[in-house]
Amino acid sequence: MTPIKNCIVNKNTTNNPIWLMRQAGRYLPEFREIRKQNQDFIKLCLNEDLSSEITLQPIKRFSFDAAIIFSDILMLPYAINQEVKFEKGFGPKLGNLNIDLIKETKETDFTNKLKPVYNSISLTSRSSLLKNKDLIGFVGAPWTILVYMINKISPKKNLTDQFFNDKILLSELIKIIERFLKLHIKNQINAGANLIQIFDSWAGLLQSEIEEFIYMPTKNLVEYTKSLNTPVICFPREIKNYKNYCDIVKPDVVNIDYNVDPIYIEKEISIPIQGGMDPKVMLTDKENLKKEAKRYLDIFKDHPYIFNLGHGVLPETDPNMVDYLVKMVKDY
Ligand code: CP3
Repeated sequence: MTPIKNCIVNKNTTNNPIWLMRQAGRYLPEFREIRKQNQDFIKLCLNEDLSSEITLQPIKRFSFDAAIIFSDILMLPYAINQEVKFEKGFGPKLGNLNIDLIKETKETDFTNKLKPVYNSISLTSRSSLLKNKDLIGFVGAPWTILVYMINKISPKKNLTDQFFNDKILLSELIKIIERFLKLHIKNQINAGANLIQIFDSWAGLLQSEIEEFIYMPTKNLVEYTKSLNTPVICFPREIKNYKNYCDIVKPDVVNIDYNVDPIYIEKEISIPIQGGMDPKVMLTDKENLKKEAKRYLDIFKDHPYIFNLGHGVLPETDPNMVDYLVKMVKDY
């Protein structure tokens, strides 16, 4: 059994597996080299050889306990016929939302459009570098996908009430999103992903209507993933009440963000925990990194715990700090 499965399934606490969100990305010179030659980000995600190579870059360097497939949560809107572009220094830009076009999306067309992602997963899962390691497939949570599809750019500010003006559209759209996310999860598992993470990056934006837009649709995805005999990790970033979330949604593992108190989480939540440390700690020095990482490891020493961060690795991170962190966690 892999170290991560041992933690999730057997509730093992004796060693702490480690992987990092956005471990395959811009802080690695070998990624930037490939990115320079491949300006179109969606095309890069759909290049199965390069996507597999990028997925394995951090495994080669740091020997993490899991690889996460190089793709993006916005491949979903792309595959249900909303245009998605990534602009340098700006982030994602989505095209106009045409609900009629989206409604017409056929499941076979969806799967064909994302075939290179699934081929990349198959290819990567056969790599000898992943011996005794997991390969994580992922999706955005229905709410976060809905936010991008409606807002069309990153919703850095609070959501206005206007977001909810067209309730009929939102309810219809979130059901379509949920249906295709299930298909995307199933396809990734069939291709060789043996863990699924659900990123709800904008869970913290919602004050009311959490039931309809976060709990219910995510719970459906969690149940569905479990029915495929695959453990599922949820990351409801900045949600106000992690305990309620876990009680209702019932993921196998919950990733916490860096604004929550890990001592409180350890006491209140009994399922395995992942992550928590502020990614900005990686920008300081080794002494401080050791101190902060040790704080999380100490708090969770008798709790099944997968080391990770409270959000993705920042592009400014020095790879030497990542190397130091992995060794430190393994030697703990
Ligand atoms: O290593 C990995 O984690 C695997 C690949 C991965 C990417 N995006 C690649 C990527 C994963 C798991 C994601 C998830 C993702 N994508 C999320 C959820 C996690 C989070 O950060 O909250 C979200 C919200 C997105 C949407 C997205 N993709 C944004 C907002 C941006 C631009 C801003 C940014 O952080 O770069 C992206 C682009 C993106 N996705 C890059 C990478 C490596 C950078 C692309 C580049 O080189 O310019």
